[in-house]
Amino acid sequence: MKNVNVVLGAFYGDEGKGKVIDYLSKEAKYAVRFSGGNNAGHTIEVDGKKFAFHLLPSGILNRNIKAILGNGVVIDPKVLIEEINNLQANGYDCKNLYISDKAHVILPYHIILDGLLEEIRGGKKIGTTKRGIGPAYCDKFERSGIRMEDFISPNFKEMLKTNITNKNVILKAYKQPKLKFADVYKEYKEYAKILKKYVCDTTSMLHKAIKNNENILCEGAQATLLDIDFGSYPYVTSSNPTIGGVSTGTGIGAKYIGEVYGVIKAYSSRVGEGPYVTEQINEIGDTIRELGHEYGTTTKRPRRCGWLDLVALNYAIMVNGLTGIAMNHLDTVGKLDKIKLCVAYKYKGKVTTDFRTNMDFLYNSEAVYEEFDGNFGDISNCKTFDELPENAKKYVNRIEELTGTPIKFIGTGAGRENIIVR
Ligand code: GDP
Ligand code: IMO
Ligand code: MG
Repeated sequence: MKNVNVVLGAFYGDEGKGKVIDYLSKEAKYAVRFSGGNNAGHTIEVDGKKFAFHLLPSGILNRNIKAILGNGVVIDPKVLIEEINNLQANGYDCKNLYISDKAHVILPYHIILDGLLEEIRGGKKIGTTKRGIGPAYCDKFERSGIRMEDFISPNFKEMLKTNITNKNVILKAYKQPKLKFADVYKEYKEYAKILKKYVCDTTSMLHKAIKNNENILCEGAQATLLDIDFGSYPYVTSSNPTIGGVSTGTGIGAKYIGEVYGVIKAYSSRVGEGPYVTEQINEIGDTIRELGHEYGTTTKRPRRCGWLDLVALNYAIMVNGLTGIAMNHLDTVGKLDKIKLCVAYKYKGKVTTDFRTNMDFLYNSEAVYEEFDGNFGDISNCKTFDELPENAKKYVNRIEELTGTPIKFIGTGAGRENIIVR
């Protein structure tokens, strides 16, 4: 009965979910994105060639899979069409793509407002990807959003006209140029024509698959600490990338969910603003950034880098009910002489292992570290845990010990094949 497995980001995103999803989707018949939009950037390296997915499920590289964009996703039609075209140019036909009729559409006013709201926030900006994600989810919850089923229907024209009229009032108040309905409609009705063939009721499709005992892989974007409810609010994204998002973003109930894998790196990173207890704003952070090539897949921004934080990881294990961990970039930390692992925080003179999302707590907590020896040598060809050098094993074993959760996948390089499965 439990043939639905899930991959989630455990930290602040970019943990290497794409690679783990690519591996697990070999066993799956369906790969489903359930939240977020093209704020995501998932990289998979196949024979030295890099594929970066923003909207399409990363599982789509496995040719037999049915790739689904669930109802919880927000879709920028222009970006999606570009991504489909790009994949087709690389020999993948995208015939097995299905888009939920209930997914919401990102329109030009969302993107304009995302940028504008960031400007208005001034020194308190969130550092969004400016892809229109927050404003699109705002409209969804405010009940003025346009869903895929509307987008591909004759209703789109009137709905768009109303929305543009309303958004122009806001744009005028902020002294911004008005949007012209006729221009937006002309462009977007063409996108609707292209995407129409992919739109369907993906929830009933998934339930037929469950009845047929077919494997479904739900692939998370963003991550636990970016979750609108459980993340470092307000420095978060506007959706639920945590486990609850799987059910609300696909229509699959909890009883069908089996394994829930949380992805981490052997160190950590964050893009955008907000607290980050184990951040290293120093030579170590710079070294990790260069060794791990930590530059954003979506916005190309240099990522903030630091040590792995087990206080945060244990929180992610708790709120998601993680059954296993996938840890990438063991090769990267193995290039350092010494590796630090955050095992507790010190807040107002007291040591604690309880994570809280309160801003005062996060900005004023200091990390308590254990130190490990690095210099693992080249581990990219290790295929089993036993083949890893002792220093690497010690580090992995200690993380398992302090989290009580098995590390089932270990990343030993960026390539599709650089993975140890335990
Ligand atoms: P995602 O958003 O969670 O899918 O992660 P990103 O693709 O944004 O960032 C992860 C980066 O790490 C990508 O450049 C991957 O190619 C790379 N990567 C993933 N796993 C490993 C690993 O085990 N070792 C190394 N060196 N790179 C990895
Ligand atoms: P993947 O799936 C890392 C961050 C942004 C910003 C905050 C809000 O590749 O792990 P948004 O545009 O969503 O309103 O921005 O969330 N953010 C991510 N950081 N990886 C991501 O996705 C992210 N998606 C959003 O940098 O701080
Ligand atoms: Mg990413």
